[in-house]
Amino acid sequence: MSKATKKTTDTKSKKTTANHNNESAELITNQRGQILQEYGTVIRLPIGLERAVCLKSAEALNQVLADTITIRDMYKKHHWQVAGPTFYQLHLLFDKHYEEQNELVDLLAERVQRLGGIALAMAADVAEETKIERPPRGREEVPVQISRLLEAHEIILKESHKYADEADKSGDDGTNDVLVSNIIRTNERQVWFIGEHLVDVPIVEAD
Ligand SMILES: [Fe+2]
Repeated sequence: MSKATKKTTDTKSKKTTANHNNESAELITNQRGQILQEYGTVIRLPIGLERAVCLKSAEALNQVLADTITIRDMYKKHHWQVAGPTFYQLHLLFDKHYEEQNELVDLLAERVQRLGGIALAMAADVAEETKIERPPRGREEVPVQISRLLEAHEIILKESHKYADEADKSGDDGTNDVLVSNIIRTNERQVWFIGEHLVDVPIVEAD
């Protein structure tokens, strides 16, 4: 008997027994099954793009996704751990940027799926793929927090410019649009908002 046939027969007999014992509402837990689609592959969807183009775009978007999940989580870390006289404004600003990055995460992941690919999702997998330096678990000073964020933004911006150009050349307008209209614009604006905190201006008395 083939594996597939055996599974069907087993499931049928389980269901019959369950119904017979008036236990049809019993949960069937601890289930595992086959992988429907491996990570790093694409299925063909009728979206007017060649499979090779979708594969290349999905790979690029997954890199931006890994880095976007990482900067999103770094914003939350800093939101919790920020200290000093600018605590309140940075506490709020870091959380605002976290929310905006969280929206980008969903946009990127769903773009990968729409191309027929598989979006990276779990923290351990993200940690293996991101290009952003891992910060320590402990609390750091504000200028260090902001420096880390600026560096992370620049990694995302550099790769997004490169991938947007490649998507444009291969005719993947949707990917180019997500990268330019959403990723690049949002990251540039966030760089401005946090970067201004590293300008060393007098607070009370002018120079
Ligand atoms: Fe909070």
